[in-house]
Amino acid sequence: MSSTINTMLIEKRVFNPSKEFVSRARISGMDQYRAMCEEAERNPDSFWRTLAQENLQWRKPFTKVLNDSNAPFYTWFEDGELNVSENCLDVHVKNGNGDKTAIIFEADDGTVQSITYRDLLARVCRIANGIKTLGYGKGDRAIIYLPMSIEAIAVMQACARLGLTHSVVFGGFSARSLHQRIVDVGAKLVITADAQVRGGRQIPLKAAVDEALSYEGGDVVEKVVVYERTGSQVDWVEGRDVRLSEIEAGQAEECEPVAVEAEHPLFVLYTSGSTGKPKGVQHSSGGYLLWAKMTALWVFDAKPEDIFWCTADVGWVTGHSYIAYGSMAAGLTQIVFEGIPTYPNAGRFWEMVQRHKVSIFYTAPTAIRSLIKASELNPEHHPRRYDLSSLRLLGSVGEPINPEAWMWYYENVGGSRCPIVDTWWQTETGGHILTPLPGATPLKPGSCTLPLPGIDAAVVDESGKELPAGAGGLLVIRRPWPAMIRTVWGDENRFRTSYFPSELGGMYMAGDNAQRDEDGYFWILGRTDDVLSVSGHRLGGTEIESALVAHELVAEAAVVGRPDATTGEAIVAFIMLKQSAPDGEEAQKIAETLRNWVAREVGPIAKPRDIRFGNSLPKTRSGKIMRRLLRLVAEGRDIDQDTSTLENPDVLKQFSDVY
Ligand code: WTA
Repeated sequence: MSSTINTMLIEKRVFNPSKEFVSRARISGMDQYRAMCEEAERNPDSFWRTLAQENLQWRKPFTKVLNDSNAPFYTWFEDGELNVSENCLDVHVKNGNGDKTAIIFEADDGTVQSITYRDLLARVCRIANGIKTLGYGKGDRAIIYLPMSIEAIAVMQACARLGLTHSVVFGGFSARSLHQRIVDVGAKLVITADAQVRGGRQIPLKAAVDEALSYEGGDVVEKVVVYERTGSQVDWVEGRDVRLSEIEAGQAEECEPVAVEAEHPLFVLYTSGSTGKPKGVQHSSGGYLLWAKMTALWVFDAKPEDIFWCTADVGWVTGHSYIAYGSMAAGLTQIVFEGIPTYPNAGRFWEMVQRHKVSIFYTAPTAIRSLIKASELNPEHHPRRYDLSSLRLLGSVGEPINPEAWMWYYENVGGSRCPIVDTWWQTETGGHILTPLPGATPLKPGSCTLPLPGIDAAVVDESGKELPAGAGGLLVIRRPWPAMIRTVWGDENRFRTSYFPSELGGMYMAGDNAQRDEDGYFWILGRTDDVLSVSGHRLGGTEIESALVAHELVAEAAVVGRPDATTGEAIVAFIMLKQSAPDGEEAQKIAETLRNWVAREVGPIAKPRDIRFGNSLPKTRSGKIMRRLLRLVAEGRDIDQDTSTLENPDVLKQFSDVY
């Protein structure tokens, strides 16, 4: 995969944490960091045991820490029992923090609504009691297809309270994608909203659920609970559909949390892999929650008085770990935002930081890059126009942050006083893995720096041998950690082969290329597979290809990413139609048809930016599509590489026009 670091700026400066920051930090200074790493390495059992005993409340204490007898199916704290929602809500109310604001919700139109931990707990209990009345609980699965809202978090927490495994589907995925996930996870219950509101527009959600359930196998779903966000008209299936307000009405504000085994699946989150359909990444309750909480405390250096804002959507793992669970377990006050960064204008994020006095701000490089561009076009929305003095820490996640964007973020948003934590992790890792600790780690723009205590990360070659500084190779994690993926839902074989290839002798393979520098810092170079990162969203090239070839006009398709200064990567589709390659207006028309088709089949976020037509695809003599060459064509670069292994060297010329 090509590198997604596309930058002209080489930044050699190292940014040390300020004395003031260090003096107040939870982990202050590299000595403390190193001591923690050594402790975790020397005595992992006691390291993890102590963390889990001190930071989680157990219904039944665990005796065993790690069980590796059935590797790579590791289990953690397996004989212990706990409830995730109790650890996120009840503990704070019991500790006298019931009146603390849990969530400050800002709607797309700017309306603000706050809720305390006490009231959130009551709301979660009412919803949980409602779900229980419908007849669902531990052992069942629910699909959650909701917009960013207090309700989305309350519903996730309510499921956790009952031991009901949830699977959240991002609102930008289509009915087809939703259907695929419903069937794969075997959900009896779907919780959705009538519509979502983003950038002043209403986008129907309930209608997509209706469509998804009409496809084959969709009838596994027995009940659809609808949160009325907009009150807009929706079709109603009597007996199946029920309003969230109705199931909550009259319910008690207490609901006994169900104690579950530490390994009980808290959630399954679908993500794109190297081949075929999305994988259901299964996470545990105990190990996952422990790491989500610890990383929220360590990496965000979270303090009781902080106002924390993670701009991710709960449909992605970042929204699970740092909105719905880790930040709640850490007892933070957090912002939940319904809208988009550019509505009503590109100053929205900065205006919200100013309005709510946000102190920790966590977002994706793609958002930063688009706001840089916007503020250049219209200086009125430049961050300097706002009072951002409440900020003390900035974070980045989802893709490499290029040094230019890093510097802009550091100087213009953080006023050159806030450390930036560039956090590398994945849906599969459950929480942060490689990241600076803001009160300890000297920062190098563009590097996610060093592994957290307890994490044994390395860069190796294809035979599993560790590589020296400066050499690019596979990023691996050599020892298990509590929040790691437990399995691929319903597909143990895929779990083994995707993450623990036999050549690497049992190490977890992340699917990223990386290299380390002379200080041991990690630099992420991009994916090793065809997974694309578009505006911070993880999408599979093969998924988009499958959608394209399912269209009646298409014979073959290959999808690659090309670097894009704003979105990280842009999707480029190379297409061979059943008819000969079109041009001009006809090509334009077909390209539009295919874009809309992909939006329907996968979701609007997966629409190809560029479509190129040819009469065949470049293949090796053994019939493999030469994606490497297609990437060069997609980037508009000259093909100076050897094309002699190509079965059909002339085809590349055909792909010159972009539609
Ligand atoms: C990429 C998102 C560079 C990486 C939390 C990884 C990053 C994939 C970073 C996981 C970062 C995430 N620097 N690359 N700080 N964070 N990535 O599962 O390629 O949506 O494998 O999890 O995003 O994406 P996912």
